[in-house]
Amino acid sequence: MNKIVLDENFIFMHVNPNEKTGFAMRVLALGDICGSIGRQAVKERIPYLKERLGIDFIIANGENSAGGVGITTSTINEILNAKIDCITGGNHSWKNREAYDKFDTEERVLRPQNYPAPAPGRGANIYILPDGRKIAVLNIQGTTFMDALPCPFQAAYDFVNSLDDDVIFRFVDFHAEATSEKKAMGFALDGKVSAVFGTHTHVQTADAQILPNGTAYMTDLGMCGVEQSCLGMSFESVLQRFITKRPASFKRAVGQGALNGLLMDLDDTTGKALSVSLFRENAPRTKATVIDLETDTAQPQEYNAENDADRK
Ligand code: FE2
Repeated sequence: MNKIVLDENFIFMHVNPNEKTGFAMRVLALGDICGSIGRQAVKERIPYLKERLGIDFIIANGENSAGGVGITTSTINEILNAKIDCITGGNHSWKNREAYDKFDTEERVLRPQNYPAPAPGRGANIYILPDGRKIAVLNIQGTTFMDALPCPFQAAYDFVNSLDDDVIFRFVDFHAEATSEKKAMGFALDGKVSAVFGTHTHVQTADAQILPNGTAYMTDLGMCGVEQSCLGMSFESVLQRFITKRPASFKRAVGQGALNGLLMDLDDTTGKALSVSLFRENAPRTKATVIDLETDTAQPQEYNAENDADRK
């Protein structure tokens, strides 16, 4: 395993250290973007890294992008403007009804496919890059320790069966709680899709791997948000609930943001994984971000870090 340090804020681990070639598709999947700091971190680093690393397509989970729980039209626009190509969702996609129209009209936004009909929006879509390559993305939600939705495995099989053979790049965001359910999904789809990755727990797992039949897999991508927090919330507020066993409102954490995810190179002729890399990225400018906790709006303050000069 190689450790590559691009600058002091960027580290990724190659499980199979192939350099990107002209015959590979490079895709980044980002874990749950959590609140203002998460959005600021994405805006700070993703446009730069997308160009620097030659990333062709970026998928990010956005169900907690508004205030740490839920998603709004405004946060959707903000994330898409930061060069994210597809926003996936989960159980919190439904919190803000004003976003439902956006689910219907914005093809780059997905919500879990296996919600009962009628549900706003769509759970899968095919995106065509300027060079003609087709990328299919499916968003599904687990049922273990979560709501009893229709079977996510059936939804995944239906998705695979619906695709034409020329759609070789296929990605599945499995928004689920149980590691066992996510691993089972990985093996169920091994060789049928390019990648299966989990979201929802906000904690990055160190199991980026290529399954026996060529599918990239990772149990959970982690979170884009305040690193020193309890899943994006302040430790103090979460601790109260654990200690007192009584209801207590969570407060959003403030502090430096980080990005967590999975970087993948896929074979351009088969769609199978050539390499997978654990993606962890600091966003130092978010340290200076001031958040209005009522409105979840963030304003980056003037940032002055001598050792940042060579990054942008
Ligand atoms: Fe979730």
